[in-house]
Amino acid sequence: MRRALVVGNWKMNGTRDSIQALLRGLVPAVSHGINGVDIVVCPPFPYLALVAETIKGCEIVLGAQNVSCEEKGAFTGEISPGMLVDCRARYVILGHSERRQQMAETDELIARKFVAAQQAGLIPILCVGETLAQRDNGSAQATVAAQVSAVLTLAGVTALERAVIAYEPVWAIGTGKSATAQQAQQMHAGIRELIAGHDAEVAGAIQLLYGGSVSSANAAELFEQADIDGGLVGGASLDASAFIEICNSVS
Ligand code: 13P
Repeated sequence: MRRALVVGNWKMNGTRDSIQALLRGLVPAVSHGINGVDIVVCPPFPYLALVAETIKGCEIVLGAQNVSCEEKGAFTGEISPGMLVDCRARYVILGHSERRQQMAETDELIARKFVAAQQAGLIPILCVGETLAQRDNGSAQATVAAQVSAVLTLAGVTALERAVIAYEPVWAIGTGKSATAQQAQQMHAGIRELIAGHDAEVAGAIQLLYGGSVSSANAAELFEQADIDGGLVGGASLDASAFIEICNSVS
C-alpha cells in the first residue's frame, strides 16, 4: 500500500516574514498529520534553517529544490547533498522543468544529482514531463520514458526504492491549465509500466506525484486516479489554506 504524499514547491518565492506567516497557517493544521498523508515543503535555500526550526515536532518534512552532484570543494554558489542533510532536509526536487529549460540541466546531469543525493541519504523527487510541442507531436510518452530511463541507467532500478517521481507536464505548470485526470493517469500508468519492465515490486511501491496547476478545485479528482499518489504543488502551496485543502483531498 503506497502512502500519499503532497509536496509544496515554493520555488523562488518568500521572505522571512511571508514564510513565517505561511508556517503559522500550516503548522497548527498539520501538527498531528493529515489522514496518513506525508507532507513536505521545499523552501528556497536561504530559508531552510528557518523552516527546519519552525516545523520541529510537527509532521511536516523539509525538502530542497535542487542540489549539486558534487560532494564538496571549489564549486562557488553550489550546495552539496551533505549540506542539505545537515540542514535537516530529507527530500530534494531534481530535474524540475524550470531547471531543465532555464539552467540547461540535462538528463545525465540530473541522474548524477540523483545518485549524489541518495548517497547522502536524501530522497530525490525526480521531475519529468513533456512540453506542449512534444505532446502535440505525439512524443510525450517517449520524452518522459527517456527522462526516467536516464536515472534507471545510471542508478539502477533498486535506487527507485528510495525515490519519488513527479510527472509535471510543462504546459500545465503555472498556467492554471492542469492535465486532465485521465491524461495524468495515463502517463503515470506508463511510468509505472516502464519501471515494472525492470522490477515489478519497485514499480508497485514507488510514489508517483502529479504536478502542474494542482489546486483545491482539481486535487481530489487527480488524487483519485489509481496511479497518482499525491501532488507536487507550486503556486497553491504558498497559500496555507489552499495547501491544507489539497492535502485533505487525498482519498
Ligand atoms: P504550479 O502548481 O504553480 O503549476 O507549479 C507546479 C510545479 O512546478 C511544482 O513543482
